[in-house]
Amino acid sequence: MSIEDKLAKLDEMNAQAELAGGQERIDKQHASGKLTARERIAKLLDEDTCMELDKFVVHQCQDFGVEKILGDGVVTGYGKIHGRLVYVFAQDFTVLGGSLSGTYGKKICKIMDLAMKNGAPVIGLNDSGGARIQEGVVSLAGYGEIFNRNVLASGVIPQISAILGPCAGGAVYSPSITDFVVMVEKQSYMFITGPEVIKAVTGEEVTQDRLGGSSTHGSVSGVSHFSAPSDEEAIALIRELLTYIPQNNLQDPPTVVCNDDPNRLEERLRTIVPEDPGKPYDMKELLGLVLDDNYLFEVHSQYAKNMIVGFGRLAGNTVGVVANQPMSLAGCLDIKASIKAARFVRFCDAFNIPIVTFVDVPGFMPGTEQEYGGIITHGAKLLYAFAEATVPKVTVIVRKAYGGAYDVMASKHIRADINFAYPSGEVAVMGSDGAVKIIFRKQIKASDDPKKEQAELVAEYKEKFANPYRAAELGYIDEVIDPIYTRPKLIIALDSLKNKRETLPPKKHGNIPL
Ligand code: HXC
Repeated sequence: MSIEDKLAKLDEMNAQAELAGGQERIDKQHASGKLTARERIAKLLDEDTCMELDKFVVHQCQDFGVEKILGDGVVTGYGKIHGRLVYVFAQDFTVLGGSLSGTYGKKICKIMDLAMKNGAPVIGLNDSGGARIQEGVVSLAGYGEIFNRNVLASGVIPQISAILGPCAGGAVYSPSITDFVVMVEKQSYMFITGPEVIKAVTGEEVTQDRLGGSSTHGSVSGVSHFSAPSDEEAIALIRELLTYIPQNNLQDPPTVVCNDDPNRLEERLRTIVPEDPGKPYDMKELLGLVLDDNYLFEVHSQYAKNMIVGFGRLAGNTVGVVANQPMSLAGCLDIKASIKAARFVRFCDAFNIPIVTFVDVPGFMPGTEQEYGGIITHGAKLLYAFAEATVPKVTVIVRKAYGGAYDVMASKHIRADINFAYPSGEVAVMGSDGAVKIIFRKQIKASDDPKKEQAELVAEYKEKFANPYRAAELGYIDEVIDPIYTRPKLIIALDSLKNKRETLPPKKHGNIPL
């Protein structure tokens, strides 16, 4: 065979692999509003940087005469995003519904191993009918090998999952171990058991979308962190996310050129907190005024809205932002908010991202629902995560910092490095009204004018405790600042902490209250 013939054969094989499940199935994929695996990878990676591996791999299944298709239903390889190395796999629904065979699992494991050796993120684009039924336990073994690698890679390299079609059964566990899950609205779903099984077992009727669609997982279960209206937008979101995070746990996050004045002063910060402590305000407005270019890349925006988490930049450097949102549930800490923030704090700590915390928290959410749901354990997650984090931690008490929630929200006592408070800060065991009712109950009852007595006592309590100065006297607050200076103060504080070195006592691992 001449070289020309050999090259022609190679071209033919490449073309065959690229046709995957065939034109008809590609057309069906497009008709359902989805891109193909290769189109997705092309949009994800910088132009012409994709290096595909294992393009000619085929399954080894001897049963049921399953057709052998080059590549076996998953496209794997590496390339660049914003010039930085990433590893990627994209499940190809046109090949046996993207179902996972033994060799398909091995292809994914190969790129995960390379990503670990080379310290680069792994991005998985999921669109699959799950375990390839014809392969039985071989397929389950394939999943198991992937799960194991997900766990070993956790906290070493960033792992990101896009759910762009079905993701059902045990298959959901790989994305759920990864750091961030992005779902496409009305097109993707994740569940352990589908609507038909649910109906057969419990009689409950539910649609696929309500059970495991993007809005369910974005706002009810919290399984997904982001949702997007299309493949293209989900992929663009992943590209943006990567601009905030480092390649691996030994590197610092990327920095960008900052065109926003680090000394920018914001008059509005003096008036954003209403004089009436019972009145809400939008914490997101405050965050915008402080961060570079007024921009917060919010994570989990639809879940537990009483807690805001996300990435931003200060003087061009990535920060992880954690903030109570008084506009929702008065900014209370509840189960969902605690879990949401704890996971985010742990991500930041694992990947050397300084954490800036803005506090306005009236306490933990009261009620049987919360207590029965285990707020004690879940609230402890956030406490644990903040206390364990050794990255630079800077805290701003904006208004309320009451009770246990004061301790939890990156207080000095759990090793925050620099703690600021606004003059509107209230560091106390609880709000004035509640406190007075408890400690002066008898005195108020015995008074000729209980209402007047109570009002006077509340005023006295407020004067004494509803301020940041007692905490400042004790050094729990390092500085009470004029809010106008928040941005420069934070930038200077973070700069002073950039070489921070702090370690935990030697141990195999802690026992976070899961
Ligand atoms: C083998 C599969 C498959 C599977 C789909 N196909 N799922 N082949 N194993 N798991 C094939 C179909 O036979 C079909 O082949 C092609 O993929 C497209 O499937 P359709 O059904 O035509 O597509 P659609 O109507 O869009 O429905 C998609 C679907 C459905 C909802 C995903 O295919 C489905 O319910 N599949 C089974 C899902 C499932 O039960 N998986 C096992 C879950 S348990 P042709 O040749 O006709 O085009 C699991 C355990 C993981 O995954 C455990 C990990 C530990």
